[in-house]
Amino acid sequence: MTDNLLNRQPAQSSPPQDGGGLLRLITCGSVDDGKSTLIGRLLYDTGSVPEDQLRRLATDSARLGGVDGELDFSLLLDGLEAEREQRITIDVAYRFFATSRRKFIIADCPGHEQYTRNMATGASTASLAVVLCDARHGVLTQTRRHSFIAALMGIRQVVLAVNKMDLVGFDPTRFGAIAAEYRQLAERLGLARVTAIPLAAKHGDNVAKPSARTPWYQGPTLIDVLETAQTEAAEAALPFRMPVQWVARAGLDFRGYAGTVAAGTVRMNDRVANVASGASSRVKRIVGFEGDRAEARAGDATLLELTDQIDLARGDVLAAADAPPELTDQFAAHVVWMHEQPLFAGRSYLFKSGATMVAGTVTEIRHRVDVNSFEHIAARSLQQNEVALVHVALARRIPFEPYATDRRLGGFIVIDRLSNATVAAGMIEHSLRRADNLRWQTLTVDRAARAALKGQRPAVLWFTGLSGSGKSTIANLVEQKLHAEGRHTYILDGDNIRHGLSRDLGFTEADRVENIRRVAEAARLFVDAGLIVLVSFISPYRADRDAARALLGADEFIEIFVDTPVEECERRDPKGLYRKARAGGLQNFTGVTAPYEAPVAPDLTLLTLEAPAETLAERVVDALRERGFLGYYDPAI
Ligand code: ADX
Repeated sequence: MTDNLLNRQPAQSSPPQDGGGLLRLITCGSVDDGKSTLIGRLLYDTGSVPEDQLRRLATDSARLGGVDGELDFSLLLDGLEAEREQRITIDVAYRFFATSRRKFIIADCPGHEQYTRNMATGASTASLAVVLCDARHGVLTQTRRHSFIAALMGIRQVVLAVNKMDLVGFDPTRFGAIAAEYRQLAERLGLARVTAIPLAAKHGDNVAKPSARTPWYQGPTLIDVLETAQTEAAEAALPFRMPVQWVARAGLDFRGYAGTVAAGTVRMNDRVANVASGASSRVKRIVGFEGDRAEARAGDATLLELTDQIDLARGDVLAAADAPPELTDQFAAHVVWMHEQPLFAGRSYLFKSGATMVAGTVTEIRHRVDVNSFEHIAARSLQQNEVALVHVALARRIPFEPYATDRRLGGFIVIDRLSNATVAAGMIEHSLRRADNLRWQTLTVDRAARAALKGQRPAVLWFTGLSGSGKSTIANLVEQKLHAEGRHTYILDGDNIRHGLSRDLGFTEADRVENIRRVAEAARLFVDAGLIVLVSFISPYRADRDAARALLGADEFIEIFVDTPVEECERRDPKGLYRKARAGGLQNFTGVTAPYEAPVAPDLTLLTLEAPAETLAERVVDALRERGFLGYYDPAI
C-alpha cells in the first residue's frame, strides 16, 4: 500500500476503458497558466465551436490585441464579461465537447486562491483532473493546493499539462524536471495515475495532434488520454447501493423507489434491503429514462419496483442484501470549510448525505491541513477554504461508505441550521469504532422514577443576557422561591462553572461554543436526575442555545432573555469588566468587542429597566406555574 497523505489506498486499478461512456473532468491551475486557452483549444480542435462563435472569436481576438490575426482561444469561453476583460476565471463553468469516441464535460475551476470552494464543487463528480502549470514557473503553490483538493475529492487520474512549452524552447530537460517534481507530489497524495504532457495550448502542440516540435516526447496527446481515461466503471463493480430520493406511488399497489445508483449494478430479481431496518425484497422491475431495462449501474437515475411492500422512505438506502454497507453515527472525515463564518467544534449543524438529513456536531478538529506544505496543524476553528480532518457525531446512525470507495455514499454537505447555507463539503474516511463499543446503559431507576420521587417535572430555565444584565441575581432569587416551595433545584452559573468544569476555556468564539455545549450536557444530566436546573450564562450565540434546546426537548427548555441595554450594563459594571474592556485590558468582551445575539423568540423576556429583580423573579415562577411545572407531578398518572 502506498503510504500517502490521505492514508487511502489508490483506487483498484482495472484496465483503462477503450473509449465509451461520458468522462467528467476538471481543469485547474494558476491564473496565468493558460487554462482558458487550453479549454478553448479543446473545443476548437474537436469541432465543438459553432460557426457564428468562431466569427465572433476572430473579431474579439483582434479587438483585444491579438497578434497577426491569431485566434485567442481563451475568448471562446463565453463566461462573464469580467472574466473576458480581466482574463481570470471566477466561477465553475461546465463545458461540453465530444470526439468520435466519447463525450466530455469539463468543470472549469478557478485559479484564484480564495476559490477552493468552487474547485471542490467541480471536483466532486469528476474522474480526472487536468492540472496546468506554466513551463516557465513549474510546480507552484496553486498546483500543490489544487492537486491536494482533487485527491481529497476522490480524483485518482491526473494529467499534468506543462503548458507554454514554446516559451522555454520546447526544452526536454525543463519538462522532465517539472514532471519529476510533480510525480513526487502525486505519490504523497495517492494520485495513482499521472500523465505529464508537454503542451503549447495556444498553438495546439500535443493537444489533439502530436507536436513536431517535441520529437523527444513519445507519450499520448491530451485528447488521447481523455479518450482512454477510466469513467465510473470502477464504481459499477462495487456492491449495489442506492439512496432513495423519493417514493413514487400510483394506484393502490404500485410503489416505485427513485434515486441515482450510487455504486454497483442492480439486476432483475436481485435481493435488496433497506440498510437501516434490514427488511429485504426482490427487484421486480427497473425503469430508466427510456423505459424498462434489465439492469441499472452506478450513475444511472432509476426507479425500482420490488416484489414485497417493505418499509422504505425518502432518505433510506437500498443495498445488495448480501453485502450491505455499515451504519455509523460517529466517523472521521475531511471537510472543506466554505463559509465566511468559521467552523467551531461543538456547534450543532445539519449533515446531509444522499437524501438523508440529520443533526450533528463536529466533536473535534483533529488537525487542519496546510494545503501548501501538507503539514498537520492543531486548530480550534476552521476558516473559509481551510481543510481539516474532523470527528463527527450524528444524532442517529446512517448508512455510509468511505469516500475513497463510494463518493456518493461517503460524501456529505454541512448546512447551517439558522441560515440554511451550505457551509462545508465532507468526505468520510472511516467510522469511529469507539461508537460501536459504547451502548446507552438502561438504568432501572430512570428519569421518570427520580422525578416522581421528587414530585416535580424537571426543566431547564436558561437565562441568557449580557455580562452585568442581572441573570445571576434573578436566577438566585428564583431558586430561593422554588426552594421555599419545596422544589429540588440546582444553579449552573457561568462564573462558577468556569472555575471548574470549564477552567480550561477562555472567551474566544470556539471556547464559548464548547463552554455552552458542556453546560447544556450538564443541564441534561441534572434534568435526568429530576431537578429544575437554572442555567445562567451569557451564551451569546443563538446556534448554541438552539443546540441546547434540541438536546433537551422543547417543552422542558425555557429560554429567558434578561434584556438589559449594554449602556445600562456598562453603567452598573458590577465587576468593573466593562471599564477594563474599554481600556483595552480585556479581549473579546461581550457587548464591547465580541457579539451578543439576542434570542429571536424567547419563552420569556425580562426587561430589567422596567421592574426590580424581585418582581422579575416572581414572573419566572409564575411562568413555571402556568406551564404546569409546579403542580404535584406523577409521571405515572
Ligand atoms: S459565555 O459567553 O461562555 O456564556 P460565561 O457566562 O461562561 O460566558 O462567562 C461570563 C462571565 O465571565 C462574565 O459574567 C464575566 O464575569 C466573565 N468574563 C471574563 N472575561 C469575559 C469576556 N471577555 N467576555 C464576557 N465575559 C467575561
